Amino acid sequence: MKTILVLLRSNLEQWTRMLQAALPEHRVITEVAAAEGAAIPYAVVGKPEPGVLAAIPGLAVLFSVNAGIEGLLESGEVPVGVPIVRMVDEGLAEGMLEWVLATTLAWHRNLFAYRAAQLAAEWRPLAEVLARDRRVTVLGAGHLGSRVASALAALRFQTSTWSRTPKAIAGVRSLHGAAGRETAVAGAEILINLLPLTPATENLIDLRLLDALAPQSVLINGGRGRHVVDADVLEALDSGRLRAAVLDVFREEPLPRTHPFWTHPGVYLTPHVAALTQATTAVAAIADNLRGFEAGAPLRHVVDLARGY
Ligand SMILES: NC(=O)c1ccc[n+]([C@@H]2O[C@H](COP(=O)([O-])OP(=O)(O)OC[C@H]3O[C@@H](n4cnc5c(N)ncnc54)[C@H](OP(=O)(O)O)[C@@H]3O)[C@@H](O)[C@H]2O)c1
Repeated sequence: MKTILVLLRSNLEQWTRMLQAALPEHRVITEVAAAEGAAIPYAVVGKPEPGVLAAIPGLAVLFSVNAGIEGLLESGEVPVGVPIVRMVDEGLAEGMLEWVLATTLAWHRNLFAYRAAQLAAEWRPLAEVLARDRRVTVLGAGHLGSRVASALAALRFQTSTWSRTPKAIAGVRSLHGAAGRETAVAGAEILINLLPLTPATENLIDLRLLDALAPQSVLINGGRGRHVVDADVLEALDSGRLRAAVLDVFREEPLPRTHPFWTHPGVYLTPHVAALTQATTAVAAIADNLRGFEAGAPLRHVVDLARGY
């Protein structure tokens, strides 16, 4: 019977119970000591406390409950040679799709402007543009970005994606690599960020990139706070380059109370809830991957350390 260690700060009891039910042939524990010196080949982690990973005897695979694993990589705590499996799960993709569609459509159809007009008791019709005449670009076309781009294209938005390698998503223009970036963002009216945080993508959304967008465009960031140069977003909002910045993720979380994003009229924020890992679907994804691995199949969704995602 192999052991799985669960190290999570929230919903620990739920995860432990569900993992045990999904993998009854394994022993699920929540503390290293419970293994009584025996090897613990698998660990399911969020943001483990310093020193904990190194103390797990016989660790062979690390399952992250998060899609973004930059925190684990930056901690330097993952033992050399132990693969990290990132979270790729239907629940996460559905959550992100809902958040992006909600925010994109709210801006596309001027809902916030109409709310403001309503509060002033003003009948103020605005020009309404059909999705087929609206240019939207999605940065990142992986598990989340490709799902989002596909749905936007199905709504008939003029959809482009930007990724490292070329993609073939029905109805979507795919741009890739450093050479494709400018074309991908040029003239975009809504820019959606779903990139992973790596040295190559950190601070990517700066004034130069924002300047390439259409005037009065909308930035929607569901990736990571460090993708965005905060001061540049504020400047782009103040100059009218950006009409709004819809932000779910921040350099520091919770967002410090003194940060100008809280009060800027052009910023609309949600507290890192765009796509929450759902235990129901995530446990099934881990169990499925682990069972396949034990049956001799390669592990799926292993982080490529050289790429950083
Ligand atoms: N706000 C939230 O609640 C929340 C929840 C979950 C995830 N996230 C964020 O969303 C991110 C994306 O998740 P995912 O599952 O979609 O990741 P993924 O499947 O690994 O996709 C990443 C995409 O980004 C592209 N990319 C990476 N580096 C690039 C570069 N230097 N230049 C151009 N394209 C690059 C990749 O290109 P290739 O396809 O060519 O490799 C890929 O298309 C996560 O890393 C996390 O930060 C946020």
